[in-house]
Amino acid sequence: MPKGLKIAIGGKGGVGKTTVCAVWSHLFAEDGFNVMAIDADPNATLASAFGIPPQDSPRPLIEMKELISERTGTTKDSLGLYFKMNPKVSDLPEQFWLDLGRVKLLVLGAITQAGAGCACAEGVFLKALLMHTILQRQEVVLVDLAAGVECMGRASVQGIDAMVVVVEPGARSIETANSVAKMAKELGIKTIGVIGNKITEQSQIDVIKSGLARQDAAVWLGALPYSKALQQADLMRTPVIDADKKNVEELTKAKNKLMELIPTNRD
Ligand SMILES: Nc1ncnc2c1ncn2[C@@H]1O[C@H](COP(=O)(O)OP(=O)(O)OP(=O)(O)O)[C@@H](O)[C@H]1O
Ligand SMILES: [Mg+2]
Repeated sequence: MPKGLKIAIGGKGGVGKTTVCAVWSHLFAEDGFNVMAIDADPNATLASAFGIPPQDSPRPLIEMKELISERTGTTKDSLGLYFKMNPKVSDLPEQFWLDLGRVKLLVLGAITQAGAGCACAEGVFLKALLMHTILQRQEVVLVDLAAGVECMGRASVQGIDAMVVVVEPGARSIETANSVAKMAKELGIKTIGVIGNKITEQSQIDVIKSGLARQDAAVWLGALPYSKALQQADLMRTPVIDADKKNVEELTKAKNKLMELIPTNRD
């Protein structure tokens, strides 16, 4: 069986990364794939987009200090702190994900530090786990990234099939989208897609498109209208998949377009 697609979702804060990640998780599951939805944002909110109440939301793995020191074999002596650079993590997804049926939700916590080359035990542990899920797992993996550019370690990026950048009508959001796309391209990610979100005027799509840097080779995947229902879903913590039919339709088209772009012979 070929390995499932590995997709990272990035962009400026608040543009709709978590919304896209949750809706796509459902849509890939409907297509018959097993899906791992990974919350890699230090400010973890992906569980809420699935409508999971706070008390049932998984605790981010980065907070599990005992587990991390057990796996990394952290010891301290007079010269400093020592730990393994290759902790065993392959058994952890099944132990710690929240089982939502075909979709499994794994909450990692702050990748930002790890991605920025942090050499602490937590950083090494998280990087190992993210690398394992991206390089070894058979599921479709959707990674909800931290806002901004410094969001992923270089090693795990190697296994990413596509970086999807979400952008809303706004110069700063477009700027971040360009930076994320540029980074993705420099790191060798072959497919870069863009989704316009919170659109209230057709003309906004043109402004966004013309603001995207051509040399980053980002492909336009579609636009989602501004939706009071989605906003309300966040307010009431109800599943985003049930909030707005039109948005789900547009995200279905965007997903299908992305899948066409990713070479099928990549294994
Ligand atoms: N198309 C839309 N119309 C209206 N509101 C939207 C739309 N898409 C997302 N939102 C709302 O915008 C807010 C931010 O969305 P979301 O949490 O998905 O973004 P994010 O990029 O993950 O944010 P963060 O950077 O904080 O993680 C939420 O309240 C969400 O409900
Ligand atoms: Mg988010």
